[in-house]
Amino acid sequence: MTAVTVRVPAKVNLQLAVGPVRGDGYHDLVNVFHAVALFDEVTVREARPRAERPLVGLSVSGDLGPHLARVPLDDTNLAARAARLVARETPAAAPVDLHLHKRIPVAGGMAGGSADAAGALVACNTFWSAGLSQGDLLALAAELGSDVAFPLVGGTAVGTGRGEVLTPVDSPGRYHWVFALAEGGLSTPDVFAEYDRLRPGAPAPEGDPELMAALAAGDAARLGAALSNDLEPAAVSLRPDLAGVLDTGRAAGALGALVSGSGPTCAFLAASAAGAVEIAAVLDASGRCAATVTTEGHAGRAEVVAPVAGR
Ligand code: C5P
Repeated sequence: MTAVTVRVPAKVNLQLAVGPVRGDGYHDLVNVFHAVALFDEVTVREARPRAERPLVGLSVSGDLGPHLARVPLDDTNLAARAARLVARETPAAAPVDLHLHKRIPVAGGMAGGSADAAGALVACNTFWSAGLSQGDLLALAAELGSDVAFPLVGGTAVGTGRGEVLTPVDSPGRYHWVFALAEGGLSTPDVFAEYDRLRPGAPAPEGDPELMAALAAGDAARLGAALSNDLEPAAVSLRPDLAGVLDTGRAAGALGALVSGSGPTCAFLAASAAGAVEIAAVLDASGRCAATVTTEGHAGRAEVVAPVAGR
């Protein structure tokens, strides 16, 4: 095998209920993950011969302009850490070059870094014939971060604990989404800290039966009305401009709107594909966001695809 490419989806949270800060610094969550058809590609190939060959070399490409420069290329990169975790389980692992082709916003609240880490787990497991089971990969994912396990499952799933304990949701609907991308990113720890400041003594997080009923029925209007994110006031407090973005998309006909995860990306649920295009056009014309993406959910999990020639 010369190379393996894995396609891995972004996520939006349909509900993000956040409890009080725990002793370990994390927060208990009820986190309804929903994969959307906006994909990064993670390619693993045999490392090119060079003077110093690290176990995992890393490079990145994509059309994200200056945002791409914010992807760390050192040992802190979550995808490189994921590859090294698989190598830890595979004593004969030969050095590889890991390439991330990015479409998911960086530090945007759509779990792009976590997606790349999940993609690297699957790609390295295949490339090195490591023989790790789905359960093994989920355990490694939980070691890496709270959002890394979900792209291994895809679809729609409820995350509890700090978000890494996943229960898939059987949801027949196909939904049309618009994402408004922001200039700059937000740090997830900063948003959680702002949440603690705004909401000391938050109650234990609870799932929303209305949201689950809307998902079971595949009813977009009901789902739009039930979308919720406890981190939204904290994200808006740090980025007050997001309030105008949300209002603009709502006024353009969105069935529901919320900050995606810890932001600053904002998500809008549309009634149809044509409706999504209209909402995106209004957001683009408003000048309130850096760019828009229209796409669908839910999407599948991280999966191996044929390597792309010339990359
Ligand atoms: O797990 P992950 O490394 O993605 O989390 C990043 C940061 O987000 C944590 O360091 C913590 O500040 C915050 N976080 C949290 N509670 C969670 C998940 C993340 O406080 N359940």
